[in-house]
Amino acid sequence: MSNNPKNSDTDASVHAALCFIRESAPCSAPRVGIVLGSGLGPLADSITDSVRLDYADIPGFPVSHVSGHAGKLVLGKLGGLPVVAMQGRSHLYEGNSATKATFPVRAMLGMGVELLIVSNASGGINPRFHSGDIVLIDSHIDLMFRTAISPDEASGGSAIFGVPHRSRGIYAPDWMRLAESCAMELGFSLPRGTYLATLGPNYETRAEYRAFARLGADMVGMSTVPETMLAAQLGIPVLAFSIVTNVATPDVPKKTEHAEVLDWTRLAQQRLVPLIEKMLAKMNAS
Ligand code: HPA
Repeated sequence: MSNNPKNSDTDASVHAALCFIRESAPCSAPRVGIVLGSGLGPLADSITDSVRLDYADIPGFPVSHVSGHAGKLVLGKLGGLPVVAMQGRSHLYEGNSATKATFPVRAMLGMGVELLIVSNASGGINPRFHSGDIVLIDSHIDLMFRTAISPDEASGGSAIFGVPHRSRGIYAPDWMRLAESCAMELGFSLPRGTYLATLGPNYETRAEYRAFARLGADMVGMSTVPETMLAAQLGIPVLAFSIVTNVATPDVPKKTEHAEVLDWTRLAQQRLVPLIEKMLAKMNAS
């Protein structure tokens, strides 16, 4: 089926992945799942007492071929709290279905995490943003038109399509407020913005940047939405950080380079790592 409904095969594969992960890291009981996007993988180096598993060894995990995505699942502690982090993700533009691309997120949710933190690199559309800014995603525009949510999950009582989650929103307000106050304590501001997701793999034309600005987007990227929708659908709070790596210049021809994207995310990590650590330490203390 083209729109990737989950089925019993997916359940069986998640079960196999979880068995493998539990055998490899028997003591881990992660409370937070973290997805590290383009160039953000080194954040996982701050995870202590870690067990690192290659995606290629975990049943069902897709392997990304994009540079800046190491392809390791890292279990350990961050800010004193047990976490599981994906060092790199697979994208739909690599030919993955939404079900396949989000499989590792489904596995992390299956491990019982209480919060999913997602990160990505994006193009800045809002002219207030600069390269290197970290923006809290507070809403999104989905131009991927792909879902990892099965019809069964969609029609379930707690569905986004039903009232409770829709009214609460996909991005958890309490966690956003905590992120903002931690950023303030660390001495930087954390603006909020709307993330527009495209299938990629090409960066935008100037006309597309203009059109997306008119649609209300603040940033544009090629990931995240299938993951955050899945978590929200399954009732897990989501927090999403977007690193603006290149600012759109609709009136000036300028080519976006992947290397530039990776450089800016590496720089932004110097603020993102302490921010996430601080949040998790507070979560651990409460
Ligand atoms: N467009 C889409 N995805 C991106 C961009 C961009 O300009 N920069 C980083 N990821």
